Amino acid sequence: MTALSTRRFLQLAGITAAGLLLAACGKKEETPPPPAPVASAPAPAPVKVYTVGTDAAYAPFESQNEQGEIVGFDIEVMKAIAAKAGFEVKFVNTPWEGIFNALGQGDRDMVISAVTITEERKQTMDFSDPYFDAAQLIAVKEDSKITKFADLKKLKVGVQTGTTGDEAVTKLLGKNSTNIKRFESTPLALKELEVGGVDAVVADNGVVVHYVANNPGGKFKTVSDAEFVPEQYGIALKKGNAELLALVNKGLADIKADGTYERIYTQFFGAPPAAAAPAAAMAPASAASK
Ligand code: ARG
Repeated sequence: MTALSTRRFLQLAGITAAGLLLAACGKKEETPPPPAPVASAPAPAPVKVYTVGTDAAYAPFESQNEQGEIVGFDIEVMKAIAAKAGFEVKFVNTPWEGIFNALGQGDRDMVISAVTITEERKQTMDFSDPYFDAAQLIAVKEDSKITKFADLKKLKVGVQTGTTGDEAVTKLLGKNSTNIKRFESTPLALKELEVGGVDAVVADNGVVVHYVANNPGGKFKTVSDAEFVPEQYGIALKKGNAELLALVNKGLADIKADGTYERIYTQFFGAPPAAAAPAAAMAPASAASK
């Protein structure tokens, strides 16, 4: 070994030794100090996690993406409310037909699923303040002669079972009409329209507009009718859960006040909610075939 390389060796060894020493010190410092005597401060209450049911076949309100995650406008609204109100939510995909039973039995703490607030439903569940304006809209094939709801009277009409669309069509065609074709989901009803199994589908405007826009191959058009009564969506809770209801309403008011709601709305519908005639604003002008 030359003198130079020996010195170099010693330098390196010194550095290594110093490094080891530092590491040892560092390690020592990592050892947690003995716990300090506990003060009388109470432990914070654990954050509550509520189970939220949603029929995730209702884009853009709730649907499943390719990763199987539940996504959509309702999901973002619910998450934002939860963040403000200080609780957590876990979404569970729940078929529409069993969704209110699941709520009544306590299997779900809440339901957010584009649920229209109706007098009848209010008998068996509580609703938050409204968070979305909607109306029924008719989907037909591009070459259809239908121009208004009453034109459906003698035709085959597809609806999702137990929805407000089902109610409206049942009223027009009659309770025992065999021309009403009921489906487990709205996309299934629209698929049936595409293959010619029904002449029209009646469902919530937001979902119909979204479906028609995303399925150009289906050759659909939409027909609106002022006959359809305005609807409002609310978050459904089991009857009598006043404490949670108040929290949800407070969270909803907060996200409306601070612009969060408007940001989510714009993200999904391309424009902020119109102050007047919000439901009409959702359907593209070209969609009205009157
Ligand atoms: N708004 C309509 C109703 O309350 C339809 C809602 C259907 N929602 C769904 N996620 N499938 O009856």
